[in-house]
Amino acid sequence: MNSMGKRILVMNGPNLNLLGIREPGIYGHDTLETLCNTVRDAAVNYGATVDFFQSNHEGALIDTLHAAMGVYDGVILNAGAYTHYSYALRDAIAAVRLPVVEVHLSDIHAREEFRHVSVIEPVCVAQISGLGVGSYLKGLELLCKEETT
Ligand code: DQA
Repeated sequence: MNSMGKRILVMNGPNLNLLGIREPGIYGHDTLETLCNTVRDAAVNYGATVDFFQSNHEGALIDTLHAAMGVYDGVILNAGAYTHYSYALRDAIAAVRLPVVEVHLSDIHAREEFRHVSVIEPVCVAQISGLGVGSYLKGLELLCKEETT
């Protein structure tokens, strides 16, 4: 299996620590911990290892991306609202040259207009949106099954 041993970092940005409480009509009732456990369980099927990082701070997300160089084979990133305006995060993704899959729980294209634009999309290998935790699982599949790394 070519995915054997892939090391994947799952990063969650601002307000995603409040999953379960935060707008459950949009984001569901599952907590971030449940989401992470689901992704960790799925990773076993690919022989991959996953680590998780969440921060509400743009700089901490950027520092973590920098530190991922040479340590991880790919990144699944839900950048939260930073998706829509953080050129600093976009530059960091381009700089580290790791395959980064942009994921969203909700369908950003079916929501408010400001969410339709992702400034990180051009530097990510894919954008997966609207599948709940399934967006992360698809991202995992993509990073583990395809020769993105
Ligand atoms: C989100 C969508 C963003 O627009 C929003 O700011 C979030 C979560 C999602 O997972 O659906 O914080 O990335």
